Amino acid sequence: MKRIILFVLPILIVISIVFAIFGIFQVRFEREKLIDDLKRKASQVAESMDLSVKNILLKGDTKGANYIVNKFETRERLQGCVIYDKKGQIIAITKRFTDWKEKEKPYIKDILDSKITRGKIEKFKEYSVYSYILPILDDDGKILGLVEVIYDTSYAFSRLTDLWKRISITLITLVLLIFIITLFVQRQIFILPVERLTKWFQHFQKGEINEKHPIKESGELGKLASEVEQVALSLRIARKTISEKAQTRMQKEELWTELKLRDLVHAKLGENAFFVVSNREPYMHVIDETTGITKCISPAGGVTTAIDPILRACGGMWIAHGSGNADRKFVNSKNKLGVPPEDDRYILKRVWLSKKEEEGYYYGFANEGLWPLSHNTHTRPIFRESDWQMYKKANQKFAEAVLEELPQNKSSFVFVQDYHFTLLAKMIKEKRPDTTIGLFWHIPWPNPEVFSVCPYHKDILEGMLYCDLIGFQVQNQCNNFLDTVNRLLEARIDSEKFSVVQTGKETFVKPFPISINGYINRTGYSDIKKEISNIRKEFELDDKIVAVSVDRIDYTKGIVERIQAIDRFLEKNPQYKKKFVFIQLGAPSRTHIKRYHDLVSEIDEIVEKLNWKYIDEDWKPIIYLKRHFSHEEIAPFYALSDICIVSSLHDGMNLVAKEYVASKRDLSGSLILSSFTGAARELTDAIHINPYSIEEFADAIKLAIEMPAEEKKKRMENMLKTVSENNVYKWAGNIITEITALKK
Ligand code: G6P
Repeated sequence: MKRIILFVLPILIVISIVFAIFGIFQVRFEREKLIDDLKRKASQVAESMDLSVKNILLKGDTKGANYIVNKFETRERLQGCVIYDKKGQIIAITKRFTDWKEKEKPYIKDILDSKITRGKIEKFKEYSVYSYILPILDDDGKILGLVEVIYDTSYAFSRLTDLWKRISITLITLVLLIFIITLFVQRQIFILPVERLTKWFQHFQKGEINEKHPIKESGELGKLASEVEQVALSLRIARKTISEKAQTRMQKEELWTELKLRDLVHAKLGENAFFVVSNREPYMHVIDETTGITKCISPAGGVTTAIDPILRACGGMWIAHGSGNADRKFVNSKNKLGVPPEDDRYILKRVWLSKKEEEGYYYGFANEGLWPLSHNTHTRPIFRESDWQMYKKANQKFAEAVLEELPQNKSSFVFVQDYHFTLLAKMIKEKRPDTTIGLFWHIPWPNPEVFSVCPYHKDILEGMLYCDLIGFQVQNQCNNFLDTVNRLLEARIDSEKFSVVQTGKETFVKPFPISINGYINRTGYSDIKKEISNIRKEFELDDKIVAVSVDRIDYTKGIVERIQAIDRFLEKNPQYKKKFVFIQLGAPSRTHIKRYHDLVSEIDEIVEKLNWKYIDEDWKPIIYLKRHFSHEEIAPFYALSDICIVSSLHDGMNLVAKEYVASKRDLSGSLILSSFTGAARELTDAIHINPYSIEEFADAIKLAIEMPAEEKKKRMENMLKTVSENNVYKWAGNIITEITALKK
């Protein structure tokens, strides 16, 4: 429609201008004609009275004068007639026009002196009249008086208004006709053929039809159709080849790779569309406040780290909150863009939230309520009714964003991430029950007593049970979830199949420990020697034992306890002063929440205090780098460090532990890992700690330094094997296999 308007608008403007000019001339011409007509009539009437008025004036016959002027009483357009004597005094005036006496007439004197006739349009009260004045002379040419004839001109103006009306109606009719005809012609010659071609393309490339494309004419549209035909054919062939190759490769490969996952997705999901939904987006466009330059960053956090390689491998669409301050600049009209930037492996659809929605749903309900509720870190959850309302609203917004994308007549697989979307499955299934929905809960699930403190626990559990499959990191969390459902809902638990049956629906609950993709390879570089040597030089690390930690600054990560443990370690082992350096890379996170804001200050303070306590010449024990680091920037820190410390107080999995192991292909390094992480179940060769026990923690640092090289190597080798075998492709493969099997 917009294009049609753009096309017709210039034509309509030209036509309107032509009509306006024509109208102006026509009206002007008509006006002059009417006035000429009036003049002619007025002069004829006045001159026809010349002789009789002369006699009347010569005789001073007032009666005769009145008789003459009142003869005009009943004329329709002629308003009246006036006879003046030679001094300009009115002798007689038509009765119905006696008001005319009141009008000032300075011109009368001039006409008496000059003896020249005068005709003029005059304003009188609310009328417009035409006055024609004829001087009456005796036989010697001396002035005797005047006769004035007055015509009403209003009829002339109403004729002009009618003319304007007729011109405008003709113009509007013409404009409408042109618009309708253009619409019709455009539809016939352009829109309908393009619609037919699009439909043909959709069916042909999938091999659903075999006929030729429907565009018969040659010309530009014909050329376009034949190009489209070539693309459709190539796509059709490529699809077939991919799925055949996929079947063969799947049978051959043992270790899970990007390719194997892609093959599995083709084999299991076939033509079914694949969607991922998460709150955090994998690529975020932000304007650097100091330089004003826009950058595209990968936000810190387990969800984006794990899911991005999966979508890179198998394509699909990721729907997430567009939270970057420059995000809107990079999307198309449907809020979508191809990512990774410059590689375009899959589609990212950004959902916009208002500040109020973000505050209530994300900061409030998700991160001040559900996050502390699920983590056993003694931070009190806060549940506000207003946050819950915003949480529901945001879930609805995301559900609509998903529903808009689900293809008709085809079932789709929607893979929802985390605690931000407990109500999403219900909202989607109510409209599209044919959708298969999996939810992966990345964080821990608390026990029933803890969960029951959430005032909305029933809605949350019921919402989640619309999923076909719910995945947790470890079995223990599945058990907690099933216990919670058992205690808080009227539902049947099948403890053999690990499923929940409620009002005829069955939801399977299984553990799928999440992982990474073999970190160094993913970023496509192996030579980070230069970066390592730069960091060594900058922080004077050459003869030092280096430990590293990489975290979002979150109270669940045990950063404060870690610093206390380093303090204790140096107190107990002064021989390591000036020899040991700890590097903390900390990405500020959720800083609008008071608890997080306070934590940033607490860490700043404790780091400064500790460095002050131990500082000696150029050495200080802690290097604290507080900003967002990209995966590429983190890699050299992993590579150069002798120890990695993960001391979460409670953590669903913790992918930093796995990334560190994957980066140590040379089998160097030691991992100190909190027993309260999901990763501790798999990485049994790490040095496990209770981060609350500062004494034990400090001793673990000493152990990591002093452990014999052979043992370190052996442990790292075992862990590397675990991480390589149980990578994120396997994780996704297992979930997809499971969900497709359940569906059958
Ligand atoms: C955890 C959560 C994720 C979240 C990430 C980062 O890993 O499980 O869902 O994306 O933290 O937190 P943020 O609030 O920055 O998304």
